[in-house]
Amino acid sequence: MIKTVGIIGSGTMGSGIAQVAATSGCTVKIYDTNQTALDKSKASLEKILTRLIEKGRIDEVEKSRIQTNITYVNDLADLRDSELTIEAIVENLEIKQKVFATLETYVSDTAIIASNTSSLSIASIASSLKKPERCVGIHFFNPAPLMKLVEVVPAIQTSKTVLDIAVQTISDWKKVVAVAKDTPGFIVNRVARPFYGESLRIYEEGLADFATIDWSLKTIGGFRMGPFELMDFIGNDVNYTVTETVFTAFYYDPRYRPAFTQKRLSEAGYLGRKTGKGYYDYTEGAVKPKPIEDTILAQQIFDRVLVMLINEAADALFLNIASAADIDNAMTKGVNYPKGLLSWADEKGISWCVEKLDALYDEYHEDRYRCSPLLRKMNKENKSFF
Ligand code: NAI
Repeated sequence: MIKTVGIIGSGTMGSGIAQVAATSGCTVKIYDTNQTALDKSKASLEKILTRLIEKGRIDEVEKSRIQTNITYVNDLADLRDSELTIEAIVENLEIKQKVFATLETYVSDTAIIASNTSSLSIASIASSLKKPERCVGIHFFNPAPLMKLVEVVPAIQTSKTVLDIAVQTISDWKKVVAVAKDTPGFIVNRVARPFYGESLRIYEEGLADFATIDWSLKTIGGFRMGPFELMDFIGNDVNYTVTETVFTAFYYDPRYRPAFTQKRLSEAGYLGRKTGKGYYDYTEGAVKPKPIEDTILAQQIFDRVLVMLINEAADALFLNIASAADIDNAMTKGVNYPKGLLSWADEKGISWCVEKLDALYDEYHEDRYRCSPLLRKMNKENKSFF
């Protein structure tokens, strides 16, 4: 069992991961090059734990136990005793590789070095190590203490022992593990793309406005937030970059092509909630536009987005990115989808999925609407996912 944990980077993710590890009883050292970031991390933990006391979730003793478990350090060498180090610094391959190579000179031969990267390949980060087999992806979701899912991503270099320890540790931290292949977007950031992309496409075709599309997915689909509300929440700069990165990493597969609508919003600085304006206006007194509450239109919008999500999930299974159970868990626990997409496919019927996709393909003759070979095969064989 891992007892000593190092965290590199005390920003949003590093601070959250440190809290998770410390809560589970690990001794955590969190390192950052920026003293202000370390101070901020410490102050924010104090605030979070105080709020948890107010809500009756923890008591003073627990708060002090968690805080005592975390030490804030400004020398990477201080992580020398860490059995597991999780890096959560700026998303830049060269900087990560440099930090990994330096850290390896301090830690023991058996120490595991993990990255929380969202978009870089674990193989490329691992290649900076003398012992690349000790490297693994451990991808948390924001906010790390609240989101149940963690994707564990072995690189081609990762040893079986390291993968097993990573899975065990994250389970010990009371998280739901989904093991994903080292491919762009892992599970969630790949499978979720059509939620945004197809909704943007529906808007660009002039079929419905933002409010109506959001309303359709919430009312009929049971999604907690509509795609445009969610993009405004995440930030259009961040969401656009993820889409563009996935698109580029997939050698420009048209299925992942970003939308000009979002690019322009991002360029204009309409980033969403954080700038007061995105798809919606968040300035004081602004009136939220009303959706057109047409249930036939809403069903069409929902069906189209859902079938594209199902197709993406089915294709991820077809290409062995993860198991069916892990794909479904990833979407319900990582991004709070109301149902797993493969279970949803079973519920709707595989033949329904194939017919819908083929109808879209017939209408547009675009590669983005190609039906996954797995769905087609299952339909012929009359099979379901579960
Ligand atoms: P952040 O900007 O909040 O924090 C990054 C921290 O790393 C900063 O405090 C910075 O001072 C520090 N840092 C930068 N270079 C460093 C170096 N060479 N050595 C030590 N510390 C250094 O970033 P955030 O959002 O926490 O993201 C960190 C990583 O987690 C990225 O790889 C990102 O892709 C990944 N990630 C982010 C998620 C998010 O929603 N923000 C979700 C999942 C993964």
